[in-house]
Amino acid sequence: MSEREAIDWDALERAAERARDKAYAPYSGYTVGAALLGEDGNVYAGANVENASYPMCLCAERSAVAAAVFAGVRRFVAMALSTKGSRAAAPCGACRQVLAEFPPSFPIVCTSAAGDRLETTVEELLPHRFDADYLDE
Ligand code: THU
Repeated sequence: MSEREAIDWDALERAAERARDKAYAPYSGYTVGAALLGEDGNVYAGANVENASYPMCLCAERSAVAAAVFAGVRRFVAMALSTKGSRAAAPCGACRQVLAEFPPSFPIVCTSAAGDRLETTVEELLPHRFDADYLDE
């Protein structure tokens, strides 16, 4: 069984959907939920948190990363992302960079409320990324 097959994607996708219900998105109305499976086997969820000062919005993925890191988890096995609308959306550019801070090979499944699906990895989403290795040169 491959690593991807060993993951309980149904449970992770449901966790992302439940997280999306918690989104605070009164300005865009675009709700997003993220569920990260940590290497400890636990799921760390996050949702987007908007602000009247628009650029201060926090994406769902970064709020899930903060929850995991605060719990002491820095390696992820998989992530599910749930977005409103018809098309499954992949993480935004800023979130790709944040996710790549951690070993970026983990699989990501993006689903839309309408049932569209996109399977990818951070590696695929952010080639030639800047990472800590450059700081040591
Ligand atoms: N959003 C996310 O939560 N994740 C992404 O990867 C893309 C965008 C949120 C930010 C904002 O609250 C809303 O979606 C519309 O941009």
